[in-house]
Amino acid sequence: MDPSATPPRSESRRPAAITALAIRKQYGHVEALRGVSLSVGLGEIVALVGDNGAGKSTLMKIMCGAISPDAGEVVLGNDVPVVAGRFNAAEQGVGVVYQDLALAPHLTVLENVYLGHEVLRTDRPRWLGLLDRRAMALEAQAALQRLAIRLPTVRVPVSLLSGGQRQAVAIARAVKWARRVVLLDEPTASLGTRQADIVMNLIRNVAQQGFGVLLISHDMERLARVADRIVVMRRGTIVAEFPGASATLAQIVEAMLGGAPRLADPRAGAPAA
Ligand SMILES: Nc1ncnc2c1ncn2[C@@H]1O[C@H](COP(=O)(O)OP(=O)(O)OP(=O)(O)O)[C@@H](O)[C@H]1O
Ligand SMILES: [Mg+2]
Repeated sequence: MDPSATPPRSESRRPAAITALAIRKQYGHVEALRGVSLSVGLGEIVALVGDNGAGKSTLMKIMCGAISPDAGEVVLGNDVPVVAGRFNAAEQGVGVVYQDLALAPHLTVLENVYLGHEVLRTDRPRWLGLLDRRAMALEAQAALQRLAIRLPTVRVPVSLLSGGQRQAVAIARAVKWARRVVLLDEPTASLGTRQADIVMNLIRNVAQQGFGVLLISHDMERLARVADRIVVMRRGTIVAEFPGASATLAQIVEAMLGGAPRLADPRAGAPAA
């Protein structure tokens, strides 16, 4: 393979929580991902930014096993690669927060946190399928508390919560069942200023507990405040990377829209189509 055609890799200096290696994905004539390599370290927040259609959500879906890449691998921790095809994110300790459809609104906070993970009573025959609601409520409360999320009760239907509270519950649920990685796609997109701040602080808490966090967002100002690294994608490749604290908005936008490349990607300097 021609080495000059190798796209840049974005690597963490910390022990890896999750690594995507040379991921390719094509939809018809659209090359959604053209060989993307990216790692997220334990305890690290990596922000993934890029213009609409850059390939961010596709990469995230591949990293949680929801869709399979045409080529490339996903590696969890330092283990052997888990995918050539699909894998079960929850079983592998990967928590995911999607922008929408994250929660079932008619169910309570408790039921949402435990959806698919229900705990059965041990003092009754398992075939009766009786749920241990007390144990679940206590554990759900503890999960919310660990992230400093305050709700009056876990028995309130999610439909009565604010957008920010819902997003907090979605994050708490992802973290409760995750072991090392949490992936979030636009978690603040539909939120007001104050609630977006709360959710970003929550995401920082998650990383402080040792999880690797991959955060897709267009909210540059808040990203710059929480991210350890900001990785910029354009047209299916990574074209730039900045340390979170030192990146200016102008630099990030320039990279997103096709300014001077920050990494040695020979294709990044090509004029925009
Ligand atoms: N299921 C699909 N079928 C066909 N094309 C798809 C599919 N999913 C994504 N694409 C295409 O792949 C490219 C990357 O899409 P993707 O959703 O990953 O972008 P994105 O960076 O998340 O954009 P946005 O910021 O708008 O969410 C786009 O051109 C999109 O149209
Ligand atoms: Mg997207």
